[in-house]
Amino acid sequence: MEPWISPSILAADFSRLGDEVRAVLSAGANTIHFDVMDNHYVPNLSIGPLVLESLRKAGIDAVVDVHLMVKPVDRLIGDFATAGADYITIHPESTEHLHRTLSLIAESGAKVGLVFNPATPLSILEEVIHLLDLILIMSVNPGFGGQSFINSSLDKLAHARELIDASGRNIRLQIDGGVKVNNIGQVAAAGADTFVAGTAIFGTDDYAKTIADLRNAISSATT
Ligand code: DX5
Ligand code: ZN
Repeated sequence: MEPWISPSILAADFSRLGDEVRAVLSAGANTIHFDVMDNHYVPNLSIGPLVLESLRKAGIDAVVDVHLMVKPVDRLIGDFATAGADYITIHPESTEHLHRTLSLIAESGAKVGLVFNPATPLSILEEVIHLLDLILIMSVNPGFGGQSFINSSLDKLAHARELIDASGRNIRLQIDGGVKVNNIGQVAAAGADTFVAGTAIFGTDDYAKTIADLRNAISSATT
């Protein structure tokens, strides 16, 4: 699968959000990662569907993956699909009825993502992998940008890669948290194909150079 670099706009300058999104896309980003936090499921508060709708109205037509860190989650799924989400990714801990919530995402027309925190086992995939378009492995505990990569995520990625390959399904394997130029090669070698990076991209002055560096590190590690 073609590697995707997905800047997390949590690290963008929100006073110039539309320009920041256009800047990373023209610098070579494949998709936009949109982090939604509710100060309940995670101890932080970020942005909602109105912000996505504004970006769409401003002409941003890139693939947007919405990472929902909210509880309860079901009611917001339709709002994000209507606002223009391409992928909607949820945490199993954020719903009492995971199968129903994943089905709601599919019925909304968005692609279906499931995310695993560092301490959440992959075993649940046995029951639901047939419903998924994306599996996200968190390499930090969710809630904040700028945290350090948790190394045990590499083994988990490799395990998820085996499960995806065994399923025969076309599922993206995404990593999120602490991804930088100096560790993205290991992440790619462990099997990820979709790379979220917030501070690693928005914290630098030259987005095009950083994205090119990330891409080069992926290709040297996988070819
Ligand atoms: C954390 C978010 C991440 C975060 C990543 O809860 O899900 O997407 O923005 O930020 P960095 O890349 O700075 O770790
Ligand atoms: Zn995220």
